Amino acid sequence: MYSRIIGTGGYLPARQVPNAELELQVDTSDEWIFQRTGIRARHVAADSEMTSDLAVNAARLALEAAELEPADIDLVIVATTTPDLVFPSTACIVQRKLGIPEGACAFDVQAVCSGFLYALAIADKFIASGQNRHALVIGAEVFSRLLDWSDRRTCVLFGDGAGAVTLTRSETPGIRSTHLHAAGDHGDILQVRASPANPHEDAVFVEMDGQAVFRFAVRVLDSVCRETLEFNQIKGEDIDWLVPHQANIRIIMATAKKLGLPTDRVVTTLEKQGNTSAASVPLALDTAVRDGRICRGDTVMLEAVGGGMTWGAALLDW
Ligand code: ACO
Repeated sequence: MYSRIIGTGGYLPARQVPNAELELQVDTSDEWIFQRTGIRARHVAADSEMTSDLAVNAARLALEAAELEPADIDLVIVATTTPDLVFPSTACIVQRKLGIPEGACAFDVQAVCSGFLYALAIADKFIASGQNRHALVIGAEVFSRLLDWSDRRTCVLFGDGAGAVTLTRSETPGIRSTHLHAAGDHGDILQVRASPANPHEDAVFVEMDGQAVFRFAVRVLDSVCRETLEFNQIKGEDIDWLVPHQANIRIIMATAKKLGLPTDRVVTTLEKQGNTSAASVPLALDTAVRDGRICRGDTVMLEAVGGGMTWGAALLDW
């Protein structure tokens, strides 16, 4: 038994913040940001919008695309670094807001920018084992609330959003394989140190050693993509679409180059969305499914790296 994605959805908050707006806040320029990252704009949630609101909007579209009702769902996993509350989990809040019946299984996954890959891998195992039938897997973030908007090294990079997929049981793949990794000893290159259980007054925002993260990301993405190809006995040229985490265009293109993939087979959304952390892979997937690029029969590779450090990849038959 396998799992298969049968619907995707995405949601971006209404307010878009172009680089020009950040030029007014910090010592930066549209040219610097675009050249170093590929980002021109990002979306920022309204004060009243919580991660669960973004997640619910994306999930509704993923359910609609799959022609499923909330009552059909028996597993909800939300990947997020910005949960509405310490608890209940955002997944339980999404369950309530969508009207998914009592008895479904619902929990959050925290692997920062790799969160969606982790959540997808878990849902795949739950479905493939026969335990669950229909899952909603969501990456949702209001990452803007973790940013020091006076720190030009980080505030230009991130944005808010949510992406969702519905997964169902299938006799054919679907998800061919998932590959997850972590290296806790590199945790300090990208972190938010404060939490309600560890309240550092001055450490409530993202701290990052940008160059160390860059080098780490290029190295581990190359390695996990190779691992995925070898596991499935395929070559880079067999991939129709690479749907990468949207952190930096230079990281994305370095990975594509190592896979031997031309740029027109790489899905990028970061120019208008920035890095939406756990939401970036499902948002990019939704974009390429809805605009008709990803079609049934295509071979799709997903990859991501994020805080932890964590990283992962998945190979899908679409
Ligand atoms: N505008 C203008 N100047 C800036 C800005 C900015 N927004 N940010 C930093 N600078 C300055 C620095 O202060 C530095 O100035 P100095 O030489 O006078 O000290 C100069 O630009 C160069 O800084 P670097 O950090 O060396 O710039 P770099 O080329 O490495 O680019 C960047 C920085 C874009 C953060 C890059 O390192 C990067 O993308 N790293 C990966 C980080 C990432 O993607 N994080 C996302 C989360 S993790 C994930 O999703 C994988």
